[in-house]
Amino acid sequence: MNEILLVIQSIIMFIPALIANSGAVITGGHFIIDRGKNFIDGRRILGNGKTLSGFAGGIAIGTVTGLIIYAISRFSGYALGSYGTLYDAVVIPFVMATGSLTGDIAGSFVKRRIGIDRGGKGGLLDQWPFALMAFLFMYIFERHYFIQHYVYIPMIVILIIVPPIHRVVNIIGYKMHKKDVPW
Ligand code: CTP
Ligand code: MG
Repeated sequence: MNEILLVIQSIIMFIPALIANSGAVITGGHFIIDRGKNFIDGRRILGNGKTLSGFAGGIAIGTVTGLIIYAISRFSGYALGSYGTLYDAVVIPFVMATGSLTGDIAGSFVKRRIGIDRGGKGGLLDQWPFALMAFLFMYIFERHYFIQHYVYIPMIVILIIVPPIHRVVNIIGYKMHKKDVPW
């Protein structure tokens, strides 16, 4: 496989980390993680936009997405979404999706600390933390896979394309009345 195909493969295999966020929007809204509590700065720790149902639902939907990508790849004969074994196709998307939604929470924590309220426009703070944390989780829990597939060109390409993708997906979510704001 040539270099470009390898990058495309890495992007396709990263889709669970992206879908996890949309999964959180769909399943979210129940069991607010910070339970309405404020941080020492008097602002909310995370805010009402971070819920356990969104976190768990997003991880579940992200993981299932990985399995679907794996299945399509297996049965179509294209290796573009092949995580490895069936076990890998569960664990790797699960790790990515968990990292993704942990990063999303970290992003909200930072947004609150710099005074941006829940749902306020965070720019790269809305778009990068989930991707960066997905990479960090892969580095911690699936190092071999991470080094093989994401160091460094695919990771850089993904960090470049994630903000516009995030933007488009959120505009779609807004138009579908799934999100209150288009960012
Ligand atoms: N969501 C959730 N639980 C999560 C993540 C997301 O319930 N762990 C849901 C919430 O309904 C949230 C929506 O998905 O409003 C969109 O997510 P996001 O844009 O990350 O949250 P915001 O409401 O914009 O809040 P923040 O400013 O903290 O990002
Ligand atoms: Mg938001």
